[in-house]
Amino acid sequence: MIKKGSHLDGVEPINEKNIEKDIVLEILYKKIGKYKEAYQYLVNIIEDKLIYDKSGYSGNSVLILKSQNGKEDLVIKISKNNELYHEYISYEFFYKMNYTTKPLAYFECGKYEVMITEKINLPTAGYYFNSYKEIADFFGKKLRIFHEQNLINKINNKEEENVFSHKYENNYKKAISNNIVLKYLAIYLNNNNVLEMKKYIIENKEIINKNLVLVHGDFNPNNVFVDKDQNIKLIDFCDTGYCNKHYDIFWTLFMIIIFSGILKEPEKIKECEEIFYNSYGLHSINFEEIKFFKYFTSLYWKEHDEITRIDIL
Ligand SMILES: Nc1ncnc2c1ncn2[C@@H]1O[C@H](COP(=O)(O)OP(=O)(O)O)[C@@H](O)[C@H]1O
Ligand SMILES: [Mg+2]
Repeated sequence: MIKKGSHLDGVEPINEKNIEKDIVLEILYKKIGKYKEAYQYLVNIIEDKLIYDKSGYSGNSVLILKSQNGKEDLVIKISKNNELYHEYISYEFFYKMNYTTKPLAYFECGKYEVMITEKINLPTAGYYFNSYKEIADFFGKKLRIFHEQNLINKINNKEEENVFSHKYENNYKKAISNNIVLKYLAIYLNNNNVLEMKKYIIENKEIINKNLVLVHGDFNPNNVFVDKDQNIKLIDFCDTGYCNKHYDIFWTLFMIIIFSGILKEPEKIKECEEIFYNSYGLHSINFEEIKFFKYFTSLYWKEHDEITRIDIL
């Protein structure tokens, strides 16, 4: 379904060409060379592999390492946004729940953080499905099941509890301190009134803790992989935490619209919304709470038009 082209057309930024090992090693040496343990770990795992840059729009840099037999493929994620520790703890949790692959290592390297995980050798949902209708139906169902797992009750250590329980207090603070509405979301909502949005989320703050679940936080077609039996695997847990389930419901719907490239086609959007809400379960959706998260996400998410490739990180 996902076309190759620009971000707005609904595209996974993909770089089919592999990059020279020596160049990558040189960049890594410059950035984190003095953190010996981390650097040596990376040198060792890179040694016999091909490297592809898969960095997305989040401002992090992602390298895929392909092994010769295809069985030891790895992923290196490098960030200077101070968010990978959260993601690493989340990865460990979701690995236990059989929702993702194994996290292998995490290093703090001054202003950079590095995380290494196994690669998921499956297509992402964006490639698996052929139309926004299929994807809306599939995501509605899978997101409902994800929320119904009651994952909050499966959290069983202090670190997980700590990481997940404060996430959305912090994100809320970021949202109300921001003064710009996310561009594409403003187009979808036909509203870019920052003051109105802020006022609404301040007056209705308690909604964050209603319908509390462990939200994935960015349940989108690039972060969900699908196997032949249509079971899913997840990645990208930077925004995982305790929050109202309507956060995931709204953000996933918007992401499907963006990634399907239908943002400027109102009829298709309407159909997409209907399919998605129905397959999630219309009776369990509260549209006041959806409204809250329309505004919350408009203010929280920032524009990332640039892909942060490793060389410009
Ligand atoms: N464990 C993984 N297995 C397979 N592909 C991965 C994995 N982690 C990342 N990727 C690929 O890299 C892309 C970007 O990684 P992601 O963690 O989603 O970073 P971002 O925060 O930039 O979205 C993903 O969309 C996916 O294609
Ligand atoms: Mg992602």
